Amino acid sequence: MNFKDEIEKIPVIKTISSIADEDKVDVYMVGGVVRDLILKRERNDLDFLVIGNSLEFAEKVAEKLGIQKVTKYKNFGTAHFKYDNYDIEFVGARKESYDRNSRKPIVENGTFEDDIRRRDFTINSMAISLNKNFFGELIDLFKGYQDLQNKIIKTPLDPFQTFDDDPLRIMRAFRFAAQLDYNVDESVMIAAKQMRERLRIVSQERITDEFMKILASPKPSIGLKLLYDSEVLEIVFPEIHNLAGVEQRQDYHHKDVFLHTLIVVDNISQATDNLWLRFAALVHDIAKPQTKKFIEGIGWTFHGHEELGARMMKNIFHRMKLPMHKLEYVEKLVRLHLRPIALAKEEVTDSAIRRLIVQAGDDLQDLITLCRADITSKNPQKVEKYLANYEAVMQKVLEVQEKDKLRAFQSPVKGDEIMKICNLKPSRKVGEIKKAIEEAILDGIIENNYEAALSYLMKIKDDLLKSDDSK
Ligand code: CTP
Repeated sequence: MNFKDEIEKIPVIKTISSIADEDKVDVYMVGGVVRDLILKRERNDLDFLVIGNSLEFAEKVAEKLGIQKVTKYKNFGTAHFKYDNYDIEFVGARKESYDRNSRKPIVENGTFEDDIRRRDFTINSMAISLNKNFFGELIDLFKGYQDLQNKIIKTPLDPFQTFDDDPLRIMRAFRFAAQLDYNVDESVMIAAKQMRERLRIVSQERITDEFMKILASPKPSIGLKLLYDSEVLEIVFPEIHNLAGVEQRQDYHHKDVFLHTLIVVDNISQATDNLWLRFAALVHDIAKPQTKKFIEGIGWTFHGHEELGARMMKNIFHRMKLPMHKLEYVEKLVRLHLRPIALAKEEVTDSAIRRLIVQAGDDLQDLITLCRADITSKNPQKVEKYLANYEAVMQKVLEVQEKDKLRAFQSPVKGDEIMKICNLKPSRKVGEIKKAIEEAILDGIIENNYEAALSYLMKIKDDLLKSDDSK
């Protein structure tokens, strides 16, 4: 298979190819970039495998392209620079594990095959030759192309070996499955489950990075379910793992909170790419296991789970090394996620609505998006009813906001004039009269203009002044 036409469109390819031939080194485009090229996914990271001195090679390419700054990691044989919008990386072939984040330097340079077989998945182990004689040829030692067609995640070597080289690959397997909507080969699942404890030696940043990529994928439940089935979730996010299971007492059973959460996360992912709103959806019921209580005659209750859930966020953010500036937003959404529905059910006062507006602030729309995603009933009539409830709440919100906007307005007849007409000194009474005019406008008794306000003042002033003692 040849990808000459496709790769020629990439700006740096011709330069790299001609230098490779001049210097007589074999150079390949390799890994995720080849996978994405076949899948026609856009990307700006370009990785090249050099069978020779990758640092020198990168320098030459950079010089030809007029680039000054090349970042080199001698120990790992990698060099990196930016060109146009592209992140370009050159790596020397290696015999050891691929893990570029490990502190362990490469012991030995390897051949093309040595390098390819130590990569994570077959779909990431393809290369495209850039040397003239084989320009554009796909080199696919581990049937990666076939696995792309079959939509399956497999490892080039025995998965125990591949995961032993870098245990983070357990998470990467699930991340690619979620991003691409692929299956994970059974052998990979078995190894993932058995080796999951090894993830404890991997840095939290790398784990969190993969976890968030799962959450950012089109249908996060694919990855979350794989994490759960392999019991990896118990290690990387135990609170979410603990949501699973159903308890039954008498005729009452509650729904499985983990399965419910998966649907909520998928629902919200159709509505938004906002990663932190998705995260809020993932954790919105996180305190249900701790607050679960069975009450005779009523059934299962989860009183206060929204407040406790919000309070759990700080620790989780710390532990998972999540950005602390997102904490308040997530806490707020978890804390308030039941509020809109409560306001839909009752005869609510303006002040209850006003409290929601103030507490949710700029995130009110996101809160409603979360609430809508939280509807997981399979009964279409119920779904319609619940959605209508949120519409009603938002309608009330708009009404109150409109009223409050009006409240900020001033009576068209100002204080000075009221004092003159009523023969008053500056006093509380002036304010009262002004307020009465404003209320009459807000209640729709008179129109919001000067004439109407003045004639209303003339009508009410005697009554209001009767009790007056401030003259
Ligand atoms: N790789 C690997 N093991 C890892 C990380 C990376 O074998 N733990 C190899 C794979 O061949 C991978 C390539 O290095 O395709 C590039 O890694 P990376 O940029 O992390 O992943 P991509 O596959 O490019 O995918 P994405 O950009 O979506 O992360």
